[in-house]
Amino acid sequence: MELSSTDPSFEALNKRLNNPAEMEQYRRQYDNYRPALFPRLLGSLLVWCGNVVYGREPSYLKFRAVEIIARVPYHSWEAVIFTLLTIFFSNEKKALELSKLAKFSRLAQDNETMHVIVISQLAAREERAGFVRHSLIPMLFAFFYFWASYILYFLNPKWSYELNYLFESHAFSQYSRFIATREQELREKPVASEFLKWYGREAANQYEFFLSVRNDEIIHRNESIAHIRHHGGQRSIIPLMVGAGILALGALLWAWYGWF
Ligand SMILES: [Fe+2]
Ligand SMILES: [Fe+2]
Repeated sequence: MELSSTDPSFEALNKRLNNPAEMEQYRRQYDNYRPALFPRLLGSLLVWCGNVVYGREPSYLKFRAVEIIARVPYHSWEAVIFTLLTIFFSNEKKALELSKLAKFSRLAQDNETMHVIVISQLAAREERAGFVRHSLIPMLFAFFYFWASYILYFLNPKWSYELNYLFESHAFSQYSRFIATREQELREKPVASEFLKWYGREAANQYEFFLSVRNDEIIHRNESIAHIRHHGGQRSIIPLMVGAGILALGALLWAWYGWF
């Protein structure tokens, strides 16, 4: 049995977003979403570091680095959900909610994997990658991002979705700028990729390919917030931790004064 890596409804939405009016309507849903202060600080730090190391302008090698990093929050969410399902498997409502998010995480993970594989092939023909700047640093970023998403999800799932919203917003604006400024050149360049074919997507040239990647990023961005809106996000454990902290402090004080 040969399975393709993508999902028909995801691909259909991606194609619809080639239409400027549909794109405008789709992106407007969450254009003005304002994440909380903490994810905003982390998101700004990630984007600022990326701009310092790879420049503000989009390029093949910048995209290669972005895509190495972009995969990990989805893998991180899947890992957290796997752990949570070990706790909540007997709660069917909760298990269903978590399983739906796990499915989206797997789909987005495979989608981002396709991006990094195809883009690294395209980048190899255009620009010369250095090991430290273009492989080691993005891998270190990815390591940090994986654990930041994982811990944030445990503390407050909403923050983890919001951090991803910010990262995907940045990716979307970079791809939009790339295709707007290099349209003619990209239309003349082919995309010959066995991986893209296996994934289940076709592109007649690099313009079509990068357009489809831009659409993927806005879907990832919107879906991150849709999860908060539709499922309410999973509940934050911060109040629980504060409560446990107060209890522990009370127990310590009681032990201390009891001792004397
Ligand atoms: Fe991507
Ligand atoms: Fe993405």
